[in-house]
Amino acid sequence: MPTILAIESSCDETSAAVCTDGKVLSNFIATQAVHEQYGGVVPELASRAHMQHIVPVVEKALKEAGTALAGVDAIAFTQSPGLIGSLLVGGQFAKSLALSLHKPLIAVHHMQAHVLANLIEDPKPAFPFLCLTVSGGHTQIVLCESPVQMRVIGETIDDAAGEAFDKSAKLLGLPYPGGPLIDKYAKEGNPHRFSFPEPQLAGLNFSFSGLKTSILYFLQNAGKSNLYKEEFAATEEEKNKFIEENLADICASVQHRIITILLNKVKKAAQETGIRDICLAGGVSANSGLRSAFTEMGKKQGWNTFIPAFQYCTDNAGMIAITGYYKFLEGKTVPLSVTSNARAEW
Ligand code: KG4
Ligand code: ZN
Repeated sequence: MPTILAIESSCDETSAAVCTDGKVLSNFIATQAVHEQYGGVVPELASRAHMQHIVPVVEKALKEAGTALAGVDAIAFTQSPGLIGSLLVGGQFAKSLALSLHKPLIAVHHMQAHVLANLIEDPKPAFPFLCLTVSGGHTQIVLCESPVQMRVIGETIDDAAGEAFDKSAKLLGLPYPGGPLIDKYAKEGNPHRFSFPEPQLAGLNFSFSGLKTSILYFLQNAGKSNLYKEEFAATEEEKNKFIEENLADICASVQHRIITILLNKVKKAAQETGIRDICLAGGVSANSGLRSAFTEMGKKQGWNTFIPAFQYCTDNAGMIAITGYYKFLEGKTVPLSVTSNARAEW
């Protein structure tokens, strides 16, 4: 019955979790509000906030799980990828704990952990399964053969899905992060009112940069066209009036296009691999339109679909704990000389 204490600090969330025998007993997350005023995560401020939060967050996770430090069998931490200053705070803290407790250290890949969040609660997918991981920094289709064996079979060649949401929201004058706001306004809108192009990209890779450009022109033209045409150019006032009067329909139409770009590739991946257990992961899987379209497509295609509970979709240490647990069972520990990496191979 190994007990794993896990630490996540790859971006702007300081999180700690305890998992015993594959069950997550606590998952405490401290969100850093400091970035809101800057319209994005400021790396230097994120590192400093991790320094402030890490001790109380770990204490809270242990307390909630009813576990003492002496009862921990291994320390897992997010080694890569992420903001290097943020990763170093969690990594160094994890190493210090492992050293003082004389316990093994487990290095976890953040994107693999997003995939394995699907193993936290029942029902669980059967191996091999596919996972569409959609976050602010990544968009990937992962083929997962076992908890310690997975590979990326499709990914974005430019923006991530979360960026596509956030950048579209910014063009609409909405504050950061705009993804949840697009979701909110889209609920009241008509997803077929405006049409945005789907990129014609062969294979399983994604592209969102064309969508961003077409939204930019669409708004500059106050909805008359989504191509660059000087004769359609609207004044700032006309543009803002158009956005104000059509916000719900614009959000619904943009969201609809992002979702079809994502799900058409998942369908293709399922057809090519013959795999029928399909999962969602990452912060964008909080999107209500994506969740329902994914479940709907699963019903039509005869898939078993899985979406982690919300607290395990966004950045969290629960997913690091479950990944650490499976790595621990396989004896995959690392020496205390290990370093953190901003970028990392799988
Ligand atoms: O996985 P995540 O919490 O952080 C990382 O990027 O690792 O994902 C954050 C992204 C942001 O781009 C945010 O706008 C997006 O997820 N997001 C959403 C929704 N909730 C979060 N996008 C669309 N609809 C939502 N409901
Ligand atoms: Zn993430």
